[in-house]
Amino acid sequence: MGIRIPEPLAPLVEQGIIDEVVRPLMAGKEAQVYLVIAEGMPRVAKVYKQVEHRSFKHRVAYTEGRKVRNTRKARAMAKKSRYGRSEIEQAWRFAEVDALRQLWAAGVRVPEQFDFVDGVLVMELVHDGNWEPAPRLADVEFSPDEAHDLFQHLVHEVSRMLCAGVVHGDLSDFNVLIGHDGPVIIDFPQWVDPASNQNARRLLLRDVDNLTSFLARHAPNLKRTRYAEEMWSLYEQNQLTPQTRLTGRFKRSTRQADTSSLLAEIEAIEREERARREALGLPPPRPARRPVNTDRPAPRPVSEKRPGKGSPPRASRPEEPRDEPKKKRRRRRSRKKSGKATDAQSAPDPFADLDALLSGDD
Ligand SMILES: Nc1ncnc2c1ncn2[C@@H]1O[C@H](COP(=O)(O)OP(=O)(O)O)[C@@H](O)[C@H]1O
Ligand SMILES: [Mg+2]
Repeated sequence: MGIRIPEPLAPLVEQGIIDEVVRPLMAGKEAQVYLVIAEGMPRVAKVYKQVEHRSFKHRVAYTEGRKVRNTRKARAMAKKSRYGRSEIEQAWRFAEVDALRQLWAAGVRVPEQFDFVDGVLVMELVHDGNWEPAPRLADVEFSPDEAHDLFQHLVHEVSRMLCAGVVHGDLSDFNVLIGHDGPVIIDFPQWVDPASNQNARRLLLRDVDNLTSFLARHAPNLKRTRYAEEMWSLYEQNQLTPQTRLTGRFKRSTRQADTSSLLAEIEAIEREERARREALGLPPPRPARRPVNTDRPAPRPVSEKRPGKGSPPRASRPEEPRDEPKKKRRRRRSRKKSGKATDAQSAPDPFADLDALLSGDD
């Protein structure tokens, strides 16, 4: 005998995904969580609150860099149009499911997920051994040794999550459950992708910091550890693996390493700018330093690569067959050169004016 069925769970009960709703567990800031029976087992159903109830702006920051398969969607999301708004809402709901799937596959201890229907996630009940919901880290007392071991364990889970491409982003003593078989990290809707989100390092540091300051209450010497910096630095250098034994020690990288990571960052920004302009139908950004003389190669007109709206569709340049005899290939190339192909040296820059106009200097 359960409670009256809450409206968001009704479709799942109708479809037989949930047998019975036992009781509400918690109403957090983002979600309402219910204890249910599904497939004859006690499980948890998490219902995400509607967008109006939550801070929208906050969420956009987290969604940055998350892969959106459909480019129209991506553009709408970027513009935060009405359509974009609902897409972000969807992405937010899917985000937790995506992270759980990715982490579960990577062997990180997160709740097993069973169903995701109508914005409701049905997952494993993390329990205390008697099928009662497990306490949160915040609700448990530890000896210094226990706190120490638990910290080691959690920090290595965070590192393995990083390897799997997930930074939690809201990790704290409220989002770790102490299950009968060990700690389980929960609550992932705000996770970020460390490969593409600019805030990932900052969020990782904050996540580990939260765990550190909570457990340092029981084991004060944890305060001196630098696990987040250590794992991020290894991650950046492509040296972090799920097996990496972290030490908690971290020395600031040398100046040279800083320079190379800075250069990599600049390159990434330039790549992004190029992609952004391409998406807007603008010519590629011009080089940072402009040569004084005119014999720089003219940028290829954009329409040659990608027909714009007005221009007639153009057959894409056929790939040169690999197994074609060398001679033939050479002939083909020279034909192109002597034909209508423009000589790079003398060609006027077709975008010089537009370029200047857009950048506002000259
Ligand atoms: N799989 C689970 N097993 C047991 N309890 C859970 C589970 N998921 C959530 N809870 C309980 O519900 C609370 C809120 O869930 P959470 O996923 O953290 O959402 P919120 O965004 O509301 O914080 C948790 O602190 C925990 O006590
Ligand atoms: Mg939570």
